[in-house]
Amino acid sequence: MLGRPQRLPHAGAGLCGGRTVSDEELRALLSGRLNDPEEQRRESLAHWDTAAAGWARVRPWLRDFAAPVTQWLIDALELQPGERVLDLAAGPGEVGLLAAELIQPGGVLISSDQSEAMVDLPVASVDAVLCRWGYMLMVDPLAALVETRRVLKAGGRVSLAVWGSPAANPWLAVSSRVIQEHGLAEPPASETAPGAFALSDPERLRAMLEEAGFVDIEIDAVDLVRGAPSFGEWWETQLDMSPSGPAVREAPSDIAGAVAAAVEAQLAPYTSGDGVAIPARAIVALASA
Ligand SMILES: C[S@@+](CC[C@H](N)C(=O)[O-])C[C@H]1O[C@@H](n2cnc3c(N)ncnc32)[C@H](O)[C@@H]1O
Repeated sequence: MLGRPQRLPHAGAGLCGGRTVSDEELRALLSGRLNDPEEQRRESLAHWDTAAAGWARVRPWLRDFAAPVTQWLIDALELQPGERVLDLAAGPGEVGLLAAELIQPGGVLISSDQSEAMVDLPVASVDAVLCRWGYMLMVDPLAALVETRRVLKAGGRVSLAVWGSPAANPWLAVSSRVIQEHGLAEPPASETAPGAFALSDPERLRAMLEEAGFVDIEIDAVDLVRGAPSFGEWWETQLDMSPSGPAVREAPSDIAGAVAAAVEAQLAPYTSGDGVAIPARAIVALASA
């Protein structure tokens, strides 16, 4: 029966280690479409390594685009001087650097990327964890949340952002789908497999935070606009931000051109004489350890 989210108490080869899996994941498991978790982790990290140069290029633009989400995450933590803060999946580290200003004097910022395990951090050693657009990429987000709670002091807070549903994020869903349809990226094995939309269901996110032992969970949505003066500029930034961007840029020009044309056609409803303005929605959450 594939009716409700369920638990695999003795998953074969420890693939899921007894955590709750969705119907989609269960189907993927049963059909053998889920890779070895270590393999998935290596692939994801290699992808993001490739995207690092593009992220450096879009940094000033990204700061403005993401500002309402960043503000929500930082405000929610109510940081105090002297606190120890972990920025997880930090990328270029912009969010952590903002937090660092608020914990002085005496505070410590720990910035970490490409690691789901916080093995070097002792139990109950940080006051707050920040993670903007990271947990949904992790092969085992529940394990990462459990690990997050382990390193938080009692009453410590985590504030995190993930992307909302594909329908609420045409700026990302359309280009991802078209790139996949042209064979330049693998579609995720299931709706909840690691990727931009893996944690887009707020109720699933809440259930995962609860299962990890967090309390006082607050979940909200923050709407953004992914704009640019022209589709051409928008597309270049999109490729810079996407782990699939290098594959599109290295594709034969007819394929790369077909991808851009299909994306432009599908985003026509968001295009006007003033350029493009495409809706985006982040799901944000605050919880206490
Ligand atoms: C969308 S970027 C967000 C970066 C940063 N938090 C920000 O908002 O600017 C995702 C980041 O997660 C990191 N990442 C990807 N997979 C990860 C994993 N399994 N564990 C930890 N970090 C991961 C990538 O290296 C990348 O820097």
